[in-house]
This record gives sequence, structure tokens and C-alpha cells, in this order.
Amino acid sequence: MGHVGHGKSTLIGRLFHDLGALPPGKIEAIQAMCERRGMPFEWAFLLDALQAERDQRITIETAQIWLRDRDRDIIFIDAPGHKEFLRNMVTGAAGADAALLVIDAGAGVEEQSRRHGYLLHFLGLRQVAVAVTKTDLAGYDKTRFAEVASVITSHLANIGLDISAIVPVSARQGENVVAQAKTMGWYRGPTLIEAIRGFKPLPSLRDLPLRLAIQDVYNFDQRRILVGRVEAGSFNVGDRLLFSPANSEARVVSIETWPHPRPDAAPPLTEAAAGQSVGITLDRPLFIERGALASHPERAPLETEVFRARLFWLGREPLAAGARLDMKILAARAHVTLEAIERVIDPGELDPLTGNAVPRHAE
Ligand code: GTP
Ligand code: MG
Repeated sequence: MGHVGHGKSTLIGRLFHDLGALPPGKIEAIQAMCERRGMPFEWAFLLDALQAERDQRITIETAQIWLRDRDRDIIFIDAPGHKEFLRNMVTGAAGADAALLVIDAGAGVEEQSRRHGYLLHFLGLRQVAVAVTKTDLAGYDKTRFAEVASVITSHLANIGLDISAIVPVSARQGENVVAQAKTMGWYRGPTLIEAIRGFKPLPSLRDLPLRLAIQDVYNFDQRRILVGRVEAGSFNVGDRLLFSPANSEARVVSIETWPHPRPDAAPPLTEAAAGQSVGITLDRPLFIERGALASHPERAPLETEVFRARLFWLGREPLAAGARLDMKILAARAHVTLEAIERVIDPGELDPLTGNAVPRHAE
């Protein structure tokens, strides 16, 4: 993440190249396209594949790109920096375990650098590294790097985020991306790939309490099958499940999968875990609807009608107390009323705004 045009897509493209992770012919294809367009080689085109993105030289959609690195898989989510696409950036970042904030050494910390920094914290991301890029354009200057590093460190510290590393890089020249820079002998820290390898995977969703979101109920050759997705945790045939909000319990008799029977003639599943979509049959005919949530009774969710939330407001209209909203919770929909707004923060400024309405995010 980071401000528009600061070099995010370029950096990812370069990283994949330097790790030898690009498919054969890819560089040649980009080279040919840049020549057709009469422009210098553009690493960002590896990520920016849409026509409009290449014409306007900005990222619009988040792109995901997958890397097999040593003993683990890393998925890079390249977010757009343009403020018009903040929504795409939030959606992309919401699924991440760690963040890399990219800052142009020459331009320094700008509005979206600050705003994205704040959003990291808001989205619950706690592992953050910073790449200060385009150092080639800033003469690989130590003092300039130190200035940018100090501004972003204090900004993120104010938000409550620690930075694991701040790496001066040049994506264009491949300095400190994978290979250690010869041009920045004054820097002693990790290269970018080392900083990324330092991120720890978050605890698996499988280890959390069971949350099975019921999406539908089928009546199928005399059997009643509840279909849903395991959002977190796991369960076994024979487990007693609690269904909320009906507050009824039953035991799992079978776990059904499709196609049926399974094509490889594998035995029926006895366990299902986070990420799987399954059907289940129960030992009792409960009345359950789409939107119900199944859990283990001893680790049940807290039920409430009133709650406090942190809300990221992207609506076209301002948000004010009394607003009636539709809320989607997994497969359920609910009508809710906003009772009160306690605090409003403009993520670009960090200072609390006065008043009890949330304006449309600043243009
Ligand atoms: P958005 O996704 O639109 O926010 O932009 P971005 O952050 O992905 O920036 P992008 O990678 O598209 O780079 C913007 C421009 O900066 C491109 O023309 C790049 O070639 C140039 N650029 C990126 N990194 C470097 C670098 O290390 N050195 C130099 N000289 N130019 C760079
Ligand atoms: Mg980009």
C-alpha cells in the first residue's frame, strides 16, 4: 500500500523478477508492449494488466500475485494508491496478514501514505514494514532516507503501529530488493525480501472457535441438509452444535459434499474445517434458516442487539445518528439503526473531527 504512483506495482514486479519467479517470456512480452507504446520498460505492467491501468499508468483493481518462496506461499495484494480507489484498497488489505507501505524517497510521506497507515491499524494489521523506494532518483542519499524514515516512523507510532523494518530500495535498479545494494553502503538493515520473510503467518482460522454460517437448507431424498461455509474452526461428525439465534442444539450425523458420491470414491468426510463449504445432516429436525450460525455450545458466540463498532464509511451520503442501515453478517441480513457516533476520524489527518456526522471521505 501507499500513495498513488509511489512505486508499489513496480516493486512487486521487480521482486518477482529478481527471485526468478516470473514465467518465461513475460519480460519479453512487457518489453514488446512498452516499445509499441513508445515508452521505457515498465515493471508495473506485470501487475497492471488492464488497458485503462496501462493507459493511465495507475492501478485501479487490486491484483493478487502468488509466490512460492522457500518453505511457504506468499500472496501479494497490490493495492491502488489513488484516493478514488480507496475502496478497492480497503477490500484488498482486509484479507492480509502483513503490510508493506511503499513511500517514494523524493516525494516523501503524502496523504495516502498517512491514510493507508491509519487503515492498517483499523483493519487489525499489526505487522508492517516500509519500503522507501525510487532512491535512485534521490541520489541514494542517506539524509533524505533518514528524513522520510523519521516522518513515517512517528506517524505510525502515533497510531500505535511498530515498524519491523524500513528498507531503502530502488525497484528500477534492483537495489536492496533481493540483492544487497552496492549504492547504499550506509544501510545495514535487511533487504526487502528479508523483511518480508520476517513476517509471521497469523494463527490459522482453523484454530479459532467453530463458526459455520448456514447459507441454505435443502430437503433431499427425505433428508434435510444444512449447507454452509466453515468460516472458522472445525467440527466432526458426532459433535453437538448450537444454532444461533434459534438457540437450538443437535448432533451432526453426516457431512455431505458434492458431487455425491465423491468422484474419487473417497470415504465420506468425518471432519470439516475453515474454508470448506459443506452440507450437514442432524439427528433432529430443527427449524433453521439461512443466516443461522452454528458453533460448539461451549465456545458459542456472544449474542447482542446493541454493539459498538468501528466503521469505515465509504458511502456517498454523510452518515449521521439515526441512520437505518442494512447489515450483512455472513449469510444473514439485518436492519440496524445507528444510535450514536462517538468519535469521527479522518484517516488522512488523524485528528478527531468535531460534530456527530461522518462526511463523505475527503475529495
Ligand atoms: P498506483 O498503483 O497507481 O498507486 O501506483 P504505484 O504505487 O503502483 O506506482 P507504479 O509502480 O505504477 O510506479 C509509478 C511510476 O514510478 C512508474 O512510472 C515507475 O516506472 C516509476 N518507478 C517506480 N519505482 C521506481 C524506482 O525505483 N525508480 C525510478 N526511477 N522510477 C520508479
Ligand atoms: Mg500500482
